[in-house]
Amino acid sequence: MRLTVIGTGYLGATHAACMAELGHEVLGVDVEPDKIAALRAGRVPFYEPGLEELLAKHVASGRLRFTTSYQEAAEFGEVHFSCVGTPQRQDGPGADLRYVDAVIDSLAPYLTRPALLVGKSTVPVGTAARLAERLAALAPVGAEARLAWNPEFLREGFAVEDTLRPDRLVFGIGEAAPESEADLRAVYAPLLEAGTPLVVTDFPTAELVKTSANAFLATKISFINAMAEVCEASGADVALLSKALSFDTRIGGRFLNAGVGFGGGCLPKDIRAFLARADELGAGQALGFLREVDSINLRRRDRVVDLARELCEGTLSGRRIAVWGAAFKPDSDDIRDSPALDIADRLQRLGAEVCVYDPKAMDNARKRFPALDFATGALAAAQDADLVLHLTEWKEFRALDPAAVREAVAHARIIDGRNALDDGAWRAAGWTYRALGRP
Ligand code: UDX
Repeated sequence: MRLTVIGTGYLGATHAACMAELGHEVLGVDVEPDKIAALRAGRVPFYEPGLEELLAKHVASGRLRFTTSYQEAAEFGEVHFSCVGTPQRQDGPGADLRYVDAVIDSLAPYLTRPALLVGKSTVPVGTAARLAERLAALAPVGAEARLAWNPEFLREGFAVEDTLRPDRLVFGIGEAAPESEADLRAVYAPLLEAGTPLVVTDFPTAELVKTSANAFLATKISFINAMAEVCEASGADVALLSKALSFDTRIGGRFLNAGVGFGGGCLPKDIRAFLARADELGAGQALGFLREVDSINLRRRDRVVDLARELCEGTLSGRRIAVWGAAFKPDSDDIRDSPALDIADRLQRLGAEVCVYDPKAMDNARKRFPALDFATGALAAAQDADLVLHLTEWKEFRALDPAAVREAVAHARIIDGRNALDDGAWRAAGWTYRALGRP
């Protein structure tokens, strides 16, 4: 099939390359000429394992091309995927839908023959119905410009794998249901043949599947972080608690790691937007617990700052603190709402001299927090440090030799904000090792 993928950020670049891998002819569309130039040259403007290889493979095969022209997109595509961002609004907790709207406004006037526009972004429930009307009103072909909603569940760091081997597919279809479902079945035929579960829904259910999946995941993380608070108060060990809970198959062990909590471009903003939308719908009471999920999450960052102060004999002023990690999670260079950088920034504002190192996110971190110091490696960041903070659990940090790091630091004190280091090995090497939710 001939597909276009509009918006070539995280989601769009991945989707475009993966659709080419499934055998389609794909045209990626973006309004930023620099991005398009990089992608045409086979370069991905962010770090995602495996994506650059896949992109380069299909740019070379000719199955994947890029353009800045909506007219070219409309003339080329039978199915158009809208993969633009829905960031948090500047003026409040709701989702900013200007990019989603702009896709409709830019593409629709060129739709002179029947086509399907498929939304993949995370949007407030009710958005798809509104967009479907707008699309039909603006397209010369009228109601034959159809809309469907097909939420994306990919995780950064696993984006290619999650797209090519998703847990499930969800097709939210409107009044033109049979044609839209048939088109989407054709797009995803190889995945459906491989047995990927499919749930076909109406628009609002499809929108809500995505929002509620993220709300559930955030709740699971905040649940275990709430238990970490109780463990800290009672002398229990949240890592062992989590391990014991995980054997109950009804609970499961994934997303049950206590630590500095969730960040990134999705979970934090999505739960806030979900709350805002539920309030608008008069269903805010049902989601009151998500406010608590958000505040438990943010309290973990306060806890690290307090623990750092405690370990530095009550004052942060003038202390040298090494921060390992800047990305919001490992295998990503994404620093959006990163707990590590938020903590680093707060410690610096409290008078500490903070030196940050991350294997992939240094450029992004430097741009966003130019006042922080940055080192070229984990050991260099720890040089003469009074305290080391492990805040993003890159494999590289787990491989460090605690004895070698001890040689570099002024005081051998470490806070493991991700409960991911081998505490026994660090203690055996003479470190004061503290973790969240553990004695
Ligand atoms: C998330 C959803 O997982 C994905 O399905 C959705 O499409 C987008 O949002 P992502 O933001 O890439 O994906 O990251 P994810 O792997 O979910 O991690 C989110 C945050 O939770 C990270 O900061 C991570 O460090 C944290 N986390 C995760 C924990 O603190 N504990 C855990 O047990 C798991």
